[in-house]
Formats: sequence, structure tokens, C-alpha cells
Amino acid sequence: MKKKNLISTLQGKGFDKIPIWLMRQAGRSLPEYRNFRKNFSNFMEMCLTPEAICEITLQPIRRYDYDGAIIFSDILVIPYALGMSVSFVENEGPRLGPLNLDLLTFENFDENLSNILVGIQKTKNKLPENVTLIGFVGAPWTLSTYMIGGKTKKNFDDVIQFSLKFPQKYETLMEILTDACIRFLCMQIESGVEAVQIFDSWASFVPDCFFDTWVIKPMEKISNHLKRKYPHIPIICFPKGIEAHIDQLVTLTDINALSFGSSAPIKTIIQAQKTHITQGNLDPNILCLGGEILEKQVIRIQNELLVSQRHIFNLGHGILPDTPLENVDKLFALIRS
Ligand code: CP3
Repeated sequence: MKKKNLISTLQGKGFDKIPIWLMRQAGRSLPEYRNFRKNFSNFMEMCLTPEAICEITLQPIRRYDYDGAIIFSDILVIPYALGMSVSFVENEGPRLGPLNLDLLTFENFDENLSNILVGIQKTKNKLPENVTLIGFVGAPWTLSTYMIGGKTKKNFDDVIQFSLKFPQKYETLMEILTDACIRFLCMQIESGVEAVQIFDSWASFVPDCFFDTWVIKPMEKISNHLKRKYPHIPIICFPKGIEAHIDQLVTLTDINALSFGSSAPIKTIIQAQKTHITQGNLDPNILCLGGEILEKQVIRIQNELLVSQRHIFNLGHGILPDTPLENVDKLFALIRS
């Protein structure tokens, strides 16, 4: 019996049982999360409290037979650690800024993130041995959209125009963010995470002419650095919606696994399995709806993607907060049957 199903799969050694975890598994879909959340008026404060990090990371693990536990945090702790103001408005989302490049600094970076590292250590001590602890960061492009736009946007015109008007400034920002990602991932690994995922959730919005510089290059730099320093730590990359650029990404970077969004064609994922481990990509709406369509699509993923033993079951994006838990029960019943 493999002790760590997820790690074994990420190393290309296959699995005894289907490896599964879900993006945003720790969060609003769980009543115990919604209840615990009431202890904090401020979401960032919760993200920086070691006991809260540990408790929330473990909540989905107590309920379900997940193979991975993603550390509870947020991608926006990096801008915060660099000295930018970050807050969350109830029912609206994050508010950042204003961005002043001259004020971004690594001076208090480690100190600002130190509680998260304590949270990681606490979680590692309590996590069942067969469950893999996953650390993460947001990729530079995705982080830059929040830092320039100040909040969640429907499009990224302001970010793209910023980069066109102030190319030097944008380049400096991307360099700072690439270094910050490397630094924070190293800190997480030193504290006990056993695999890392890099979320480039808005990668599909990058204009083709900038794809190389804004998506590939930072990923190349981050993954090369990590692989040199920690060759045994698997790197999962989630560049959502960029199927057209997969070849470039797999040849130029040192990632082990690719997480696919729901729009990725099955044949693209199968193709990627030749060189990489794949992850995904059930549409979160299908899990939210449940019923026959859920059954059908889970079986399809089993038959087409999991037979190779080179796939990790996950969603194409985060679990929707209003997903009925009986559907998650059903998902586990299907996966574990
Ligand atoms: O279970 C997990 O996946 C771990 C925790 C996690 C959170 N955010 C917790 C969270 C992870 C991995 C993230 C990543 C994240 N955060 C991303 C990239 C992944 C993705 O989903 O695309 C992004 C873009 C963010 C930024 C962010 N954080 C937004 C836009 C919001 C507000 C909108 C929303 O969905 O609520 C958040 C808040 C947030 N992050 C919550 C949680 C549980 C909800 C906050 C609350 O409880 O009030």
C-alpha cells in the first residue's frame, strides 16, 4: 500500500487508489468553515493566525478521504508581505492598493509571513501521514492583476494598458513578484509542505505577444529555482485556460504536473500525460448540480484520464460555495467505489 498516494502519483509511480483533492476544499462550502469564519471580522487576520490556518486546513480532511490538504491561506498574502494594503470586503472580495512600486519591499517579507509558516508546521504535525500537505502561491501575472486593478475584475484591460504605458515599471513589478514567489515557496517547503501549486488563474487573459514574458518566463524561473534546491518537491502549475501554449510550458519549465481548467479538451490532457502528471478538470458547476451528469462526467474522467495512473482528480477551478455536500459525498462514493 502506498503511504502517500498523491506524492507517488506526482512522482510518476502511480497510485493504489485514485488521488483526489479539490481546489478551495477548505472554505465556504463547509458549514464548519462558515461557522469558524465568524470568529474573525477580518479575513486577512484569519489567514495570518496559525491556529486558524491549521483548523481550516484540517476541516475537509476530517470529513472526506482527500489525498491532499492545501494549506489554508490566500494568494494575496504576497502583496501584503511586500507592504501593500490588502483587505477583503464582505460579499465583494479583495481590495488592494494603491500600488506604489517604490514602496514594495522585502524588508519585512519573512516576518510578515512567519505566522503562515507556524500554521504549516502545526498542520503538518496533525495531518494524517497518508495525506500530502500542499503549499501554494499565485503566479506573478495573476498577482499583478490584483495589485494593479485593486480588486477582482471581469477583464484586465487596465493591467494590460498599465504594462503598455509603463513597460519598465511592469517589468520591475514582475521581477519583484517572481522573486517573492520563489522566496515564499522556499519558506513553505522548509516549513513542511510536500508539494506546491502555482495558481495562474487568469493566464488565459494574457495577450499572445506577451505570453512568453508574463507567463512562461516567470514560471521557468520559479520552477528552475525550486527544482535545483528541492528536486524531490513536485511542482503543480495551474495556468487556467491556456491549452494552446502547453507545449511551450512543458518544454521550458521544470514543473511536474499541470492542472487543467474545465474548458481543456480531454485529448489535450491525454497528450500532456506523455511527459507530465495531469490534474483536473471536472467543472465545479457539475459538482454543484450533482445527479446523473455528475456520475457521467466522473466516469468519463476515470475512463479517459485516470487509467494511465498519471492523473489526479480535481475540479477545473475552486469548489463553488453553494455546492451541496451530498454531491461531494456522491463524488467520493463514485471515486472510491
Ligand atoms: O482550499 C483552498 O483551496 C485553500 C485556500 C485558498 C483560498 N484562496 C481561500 C479563500 C486558495 C488556494 C486561494 C487562492 C486564491 N485566492 C486565488 C487563486 C485560485 C482561484 O480560485 O482562482 C485567487 C484568485 C484568490 C483571491 C481571492 N481570495 C478572491 C478573489 C477572493 C474573494 C472571492 C471569493 O471567492 O470569496 C478570496 C477570498 C477567499 N480566499 C476565501 C477563501 C476561503 C473566501 C473568504 C471568506 O471566507 O470570506
